[in-house]
Order: sequence, then C-alpha cells, then structure tokens
Amino acid sequence: MLNIAVLVSGGGTNLQALIDAQSSGKIKGGQIVLVVSSNPSAYALERAKKANIPTKVLRRKDFKTQEDYDSALLGLLESYQISLVVLAGFLTIISENVVSHYPNRIMNIHPSLIPSFCGEGYYGLRVHEEALKRGVKVTGATVHFVNEVCDGGPIILQKAVAVQQGDTPQTLQRRVMEQAEWELLPRAVSLFCEGRLTVENGIVTIKGEEQ
Ligand code: GRF
Repeated sequence: MLNIAVLVSGGGTNLQALIDAQSSGKIKGGQIVLVVSSNPSAYALERAKKANIPTKVLRRKDFKTQEDYDSALLGLLESYQISLVVLAGFLTIISENVVSHYPNRIMNIHPSLIPSFCGEGYYGLRVHEEALKRGVKVTGATVHFVNEVCDGGPIILQKAVAVQQGDTPQTLQRRVMEQAEWELLPRAVSLFCEGRLTVENGIVTIKGEEQ
C-alpha cells in the first residue's frame, strides 16, 4: 500500500471523490493517510475528519521564509512516509525544492484541457470565466504531474466537457467537476498506486491501456 497525502485549500469536493473511491475499493494499492490544508477553515478538513483521516494545517504566512515552509511540508510528508502527493484545489505554490524531492510523484487537477486556460493566475472560477470569454465549445479537466512549470508537467488524464449556451462560470465549473474532475482524479491516483504510470521525455504512458 502506498501512502497518499492530499493537499487542499477549499471545499474539498475532489478530496471527497477520492475518499468515496477509496471506500468503494477503487483506489487500488494506495490509501489516503494525510490531508494538509493551507486554510484552517477549509471545509475539506471536515470531510477528512469524517473519514477519520489525520489532518494538518500548514499556512505559508506562518513561516518567515520559503525554505522554512518547504522544510515543514517536506518533514510532514516524510513523517507519514508519503509516496504520492495529490494537489486537490491547493492554492499555495509548490516550490521547485519540494518538487525535486517528489519527481513525478505530485499530481494536480486543473479544470481545463491543458494547454488551454492554464498557467499563472488561472485557478478557480477564473479558468471558466476565460473559457466562456473565448467562446470555446469544449472545455474539460486535466490531471498532470507537477514539475517546475506552472501547469506544465506531464499530462496523465484528460476529459472533455461541453460548454452550453447560457453557461455562467459557476454552471460550467460545476459541470466540469461532475463530469470530469471527480472521475479523473481517483482514476489517476489508482493508476499511479497500481504502478501503471511511466513518464518518458515528458510523456505519460499508461500500462494496460491503449493510447
Ligand atoms: C477544482 O476545480 C480543481 O480543479 C481546482 O480547484 C478546485 C477545487 O475544488 N484545482 P474542491 O476544493 O476540490 O471542491
């Protein structure tokens, strides 16, 4: 069993999707042993507590330097012997230092089809606002490994979602979550824990699945 840490900042619906998948045996070879929140009042913390998963709050602003924050985060991950870190709506930037300790072992879910509507400043409703402004007819979600480039790491899974006439950023966000995010993230986590993901030259291959 690989130990998984999920890092959150908000409502935690993606964390809930992971907890539900774990309860129904859909995360093979891994278990969530730690939830870290950058926000002490994140509802995600309640979800973790209900599922009896240990929680910690780690706020960047409580540390003087980036190095101090990184040491605290790395120390926490090491103390739980974490093999996979999942960013599920985590709003604190992960430094290159932390990334270098977990190469291709940190995953993020992004609410668009990367490389569209991603990179610095594209988070939360902003992503959907920009998609609607551009008038795209299809958007979606992407799970990718985290590297030193914001939203630029190797892509693991993607799923398209139709934009509907009359969508608001809120209705589009909800549809992308329901139809793509909550399905993709548990699947990607399970594939990792089953040892079915390999990365070569920035490209992810999934063992046992035709590409
Ligand atoms: C999701 O849209 C996710 O794609 C993005 O942040 C949001 C988190 O929502 N990275 P939740 O906290 O999982 O409900």
